[in-house]
Amino acid sequence: MKKIFFTAMLSMLLAVPAAAQKKLGNETDKQKSERLAWWTHDRFGMFIHWGLYALPARHEWIRHNERISNEAYEKYFEQFNPDLYNPTEWAKKAKAAGMKYAVLTTKHHEGFCLFDSKYTDYKATRTAAGRDLVKEFVDAFRAEGLKVGFYYSLIDWHHPDFTIDIQHPLRPKDTAQYAALNKDRDFKVYQKYLQNQVQELLTNYGKIDVLWLDFSYPQTHGKSHEDWKSEELLAMVRKLQPGIIVNDRLNLEEYEDGQDFTTPEQYKVEKWPEKYGKKFAWETCQTFSGSWGYYRDEHTWKDTKQLLVLLIETVSKGGNLLLNVGPTARGDFDYRADNSLEHISEWMGHNSRSIYGCTQAPDEFQTPASSLLTYNPDTKRLYVHLVDYPMGQLVLPGYKDKVKYAQFLHDGSEIRFDDGEANGVNLRLPVNKPNYEIPVIEIILK
Ligand code: GLC
Repeated sequence: MKKIFFTAMLSMLLAVPAAAQKKLGNETDKQKSERLAWWTHDRFGMFIHWGLYALPARHEWIRHNERISNEAYEKYFEQFNPDLYNPTEWAKKAKAAGMKYAVLTTKHHEGFCLFDSKYTDYKATRTAAGRDLVKEFVDAFRAEGLKVGFYYSLIDWHHPDFTIDIQHPLRPKDTAQYAALNKDRDFKVYQKYLQNQVQELLTNYGKIDVLWLDFSYPQTHGKSHEDWKSEELLAMVRKLQPGIIVNDRLNLEEYEDGQDFTTPEQYKVEKWPEKYGKKFAWETCQTFSGSWGYYRDEHTWKDTKQLLVLLIETVSKGGNLLLNVGPTARGDFDYRADNSLEHISEWMGHNSRSIYGCTQAPDEFQTPASSLLTYNPDTKRLYVHLVDYPMGQLVLPGYKDKVKYAQFLHDGSEIRFDDGEANGVNLRLPVNKPNYEIPVIEIILK
């Protein structure tokens, strides 16, 4: 009797779900995945870092790196004249490369606004450009059928009330000096400014699909969710644009819905990132070379294969890739960025079926040697990406009796197969590598 009682108690205890995660709203997991459906399907976007830092052309953190004052930085505002700016061209290049959305820096840490904000004169409208560059971006990208995202820097090194902190260009060597340096800065004024500008961005440009806020550093003499009033800010964002997808840099990790996705930056994740005890939506942001803003003399450009691996590997772990271009001061793309985009276009033109709508393959499918695997759960097709092209044959270990048909994706040509070792299937491949950087085999399952 006692034993039955204890067993019953125990099973009741086990059935109780783990303490519910703290939330700001009441959206269910299902509702969230429906809201994010286009984004998880599309997988590939373009990040665009463009601002006054394109003129010095030596990193968008130049003000921090070289401790440049507002006065000394003013010359770039005076010279800003992007006569070659043609966002339709940008959009066409993004589209050709297979990117389905784009996120533009409406304001970066330097504080300069590409949009016509009524709360500042530190904006494109007051330069030789003389117009709202964000509006043109939005119109051009929408016209090409791409979704539109705004990056907005929470940090602002130009605003007179943004307090000097550990990242600021005017940061002191001796921490005892912060108080004196900040005595005339009223951060409340900045808080309001920040809120007003986010409101403008989400009110004046129609539907905005993604909001990318950047970033928090809650250490001593840093900035946290309390400084940004993140809870309030996010509530406003969700109210103004109910469908919008928001990144994770507001320092609201305490809440499961304090962000829609996580943003591993400039590194590769080992596996699909987990948060709150489950696989979490993620997007890795990456540069072509070592800087986000246009950097003339930086030469560590990734090659085509590295870029394609970045994209494919990301999808193979259930994530998105946001790949950055830093346009020049005159407003167009550097030839190196153009080259990389063209190479990606060539590949995507015939292989994008292994990217869109795809994700990590179910556990029962092992990744064959030297390859990357993606899977489309709707069509139930597997994609084997041949990162190192094998010679003559490829073993799919454990795939026996699972494969109905196999073909190259780029030309739809049949790949014959027979039983192999280890319950596997032997794909009989041509010895010559097809003319694609990373050929893809499409496997139609039984
Ligand atoms: C960073 C940097 C930055 C860049 C961004 C992109 O945190 O501050 O310059 O805009 O992340 O992810």
